[in-house]
Parts: sequence; structure tokens; C-alpha cells
Amino acid sequence: MAGITNANFVMKLIPFGFDMVTLGGYNTDSQTVAAGKKILSRGRSEFDIAKDDLINTIEKETNLIKNKYNVKVSANLRAISPDPIIEISKIKLLDIVEVNCHCRQKEILDIGCGQSILEDTDFLINYIKNIVKKSKSQVSVKIRANVEGIDTLKVAKIIDNLSVDYLHIDAMKPGFNYADLDIISKIASETDTFLIGNNSIRDIEDINAMINNGADGVSIARAAINGKINFNLKQV
Ligand SMILES: Cc1cc2nc3c(=O)[nH]c(=O)nc-3n(C[C@H](O)[C@H](O)[C@H](O)COP(=O)(O)O)c2cc1C
Repeated sequence: MAGITNANFVMKLIPFGFDMVTLGGYNTDSQTVAAGKKILSRGRSEFDIAKDDLINTIEKETNLIKNKYNVKVSANLRAISPDPIIEISKIKLLDIVEVNCHCRQKEILDIGCGQSILEDTDFLINYIKNIVKKSKSQVSVKIRANVEGIDTLKVAKIIDNLSVDYLHIDAMKPGFNYADLDIISKIASETDTFLIGNNSIRDIEDINAMINNGADGVSIARAAINGKINFNLKQV
């Protein structure tokens, strides 16, 4: 998930051994769509995602993948309330709705979405609880580590208690071009949810480091941005 991630893009990557792919991120309500349009106007083309008929678009993309490959399909979703995520979770072949508590674009933060959801614990708990209760798909929550003013471990433990299916951690270490494996290790030892470790994975050694620090799986974005990686995940 780094830029344009539709079925066509992710299907190029599945042969490299991925068993789960993520569509999106999509803006799912009028507030996030409006924020996305502002972001687009300053040149971030990955936010140019059609809102009209979003459910049909995600369903079509999911079906294209599922017709060809036996992988889990997730959709990364930005929303300021649970309802659009719950609606999208009803898409028949979609396996996972991933709640984006990760985006740090100013326009998304300004409407209380993305990583700013992590600032309000009561909101976070109600939001995720509601999604988990009503979702027809599995639920993943994606957060960024080391956000200023946020205790990543505390937030991860809160989410772990909400019966989500996946905890997806972008182990970003501000100022460094490698993942914060320490935070992965701490989260892994204090939570039970399937932990997807993310950030700066470029080769099998990086994957092994993530797994050795307690992640149950990994995700790759920038290293896959050209629709290929120079290793096969089945070698891990
Ligand atoms: C151009 C671009 C677009 C991205 N869009 C999203 C997104 O829509 N939703 C999301 O959760 N993460 C998004 N990400 C973050 C990546 O999924 C990933 O968490 C981050 O780049 C760190 O992983 P990496 O080092 O493997 O790239 C984006 C990253 C890039 C570079």
C-alpha cells in the first residue's frame, strides 16, 4: 500500500509470495473525500480516489483478485465514523476492513481522522468497538509508532483489548530509514492480536528481523512500489 493500489497493481505482487494484499487507502465519507481533494490539489495523486460508487469499486477490485488468486484481500479505509467502514465490510469477498489510524496528511488530521484518532482514547475505543461489533469482515487497525505525544505501546494494548483481528504497526522511527524493532518487540510481548510489522522492509533479512522481534507477519509498501520486489516471500 503505497500510492495507487488497485487489483491490477497488487496482482503483480502476489506471485512474489504475498498471502494478503491491501486495496486503497480509500476516503469513505464526505469529510475524508473533501480532505482528499485538498491533498490532491497539492499533488499527492494517491488521494485521487473516486468516492462515488466506492462500494462497487472495492467489490470489483476484490473480485478481480479473488477470481485469480487465493489470498486475503483487505481494504484500508479512512473514515471519521464507523458507519462507512461497516458498510464496506459487507462486500462479499472482502476479507478485512483496515481502519486507518495512520495517515498523517494535515487535511486528514484536521478532521480528526488518521493518526489523530490516537489522541482521543475514548473516541478510539468507541470507534473500533463499534466496527468490531458490526463488521461482516475481519478488522485490522493500522497505527503509526512514535507519533509525538502518543504512547504507542499503550495504544497498541488498548486496541489489543478490542478483539480486532490484526494490529498493523508502521514501526516508523522518525529520522531513521529503518524500523523501530524495539517497539515491535514490546508490543509483541504485551499483546495477543496477530501483529503485522511494517516499515522499511527491503529484503529477507529485514523480514527475519521483524519476525524475530515478535511480529506474526510483515507488510511492504515502498519496496514494492514498482509492482515487484527482488526476493520471494516463500523463501522466508
Ligand atoms: C505514496 C504512499 C502512499 C501511502 N498510502 C497509504 C494509505 O493510503 N494508507 C496507509 O495505511 N498507508 C499508506 N502508506 C504507508 C505505507 O503503507 C507504509 O505504512 C509506509 O510507507 C511504511 O512502510 P514501507 O517502509 O514498507 O514503505 C503510503 C505510503 C506511501 C509511500
